[in-house]
Amino acid sequence: MARIDTDIQHAADLLSQSQVIGIPTETVYGLAGNAYDPTAIAKIFVVKGRPHFDPLIVHTSSMARIGEFVEDMPAKAALLSKELWPGPLTMIFRKKPVIPDLVTAGLPTVAVRIPNHPLTLKLLKKLDFPLAAPSANPFGYISPTCAAHVDAQLGQKIGYVLDGGSCAVGIESTILSFKDENPRVLRLGGCTLEHLQALVGTMQVADAPTANPQAPGMLKSHYAPRTPFLIGNIPQLVQQHWGKRLGVLSFSKIQEGVSEGRQFVLSEKADLAEAATRLFTGLRKLDSLNLQLIVSEYVPDEGLGRAINDRLSRAEVMPDRFN
Ligand code: TXA
Ligand code: MG
Repeated sequence: MARIDTDIQHAADLLSQSQVIGIPTETVYGLAGNAYDPTAIAKIFVVKGRPHFDPLIVHTSSMARIGEFVEDMPAKAALLSKELWPGPLTMIFRKKPVIPDLVTAGLPTVAVRIPNHPLTLKLLKKLDFPLAAPSANPFGYISPTCAAHVDAQLGQKIGYVLDGGSCAVGIESTILSFKDENPRVLRLGGCTLEHLQALVGTMQVADAPTANPQAPGMLKSHYAPRTPFLIGNIPQLVQQHWGKRLGVLSFSKIQEGVSEGRQFVLSEKADLAEAATRLFTGLRKLDSLNLQLIVSEYVPDEGLGRAINDRLSRAEVMPDRFN
């Protein structure tokens, strides 16, 4: 068990001693360490069980501080940063040498975000270094959206989780990269494509998940529960797999014929923002029930629904697992 409370000074002390801790953000909890300190960064990779080829996001509290570790921003990025930071948007820029290669997996670029969580912003302002932080889950598993999720899986390996309550967005940040002046979405997330395009015009979205990704976060088998997980038409899937110990993760409606204790409804009022805040909690809950199969369905593919569908599709485990 890690200590869990809201002692910012304790958090700052641990981080200054090359320790890694859990921190809240509005998207998901992060596993944070001093981004300038290779010892702390190495610990992040060990605790998370993350391969070294998968680079980390660097979190800071202001545009002025970003200037310490990134080269100039493209004009569209500057505009987006003014409109959307602090917030669930990560942008990738050319890095300065002060960022260790371990953080960026040897890439000349670094992913940057100003998170919108009052405790973590306070913590970042106290520190004289930025925080590198992947989501605080073991590599490949579902991201944590409350302190207890972090403790459940990493509590044996870290001493402290700063408790910021439940994450207000509940799904990871949207990641943009820039080629020349033009942004491209590498990962759909808490900042909607519609919002981004309204601010800076049409942008390309990287291809759907693949087994041979351009960035490791684009691996298909990300965010996955341990229980086999299928997406489709819920009533049909329930019928096809009748007799199995089966759970249901649905958008807005309860499925008749399946015990309610094995169901999780993302949003009874069919609200995508509410569904996003509950997605990972729902997956974790169903995954803890020792089921043979979880069946689910896509949500409307607009706004936050695009990011939800992206996570659902990456969580899917194909039927050959049952044979
Ligand atoms: O909401 C979030 O983004 C959360 C919170 C804690 O901020 N963080 C998060 O981190 O989701 P992580 O490590 O789970 O996902 C970061 C993704 C990875 O897929 C990584 O491959 C990609 O960002 N990434 C990081 N730096 C990159 C770079 N220089 N170029 C391309 N992709 C990069
Ligand atoms: Mg992650």
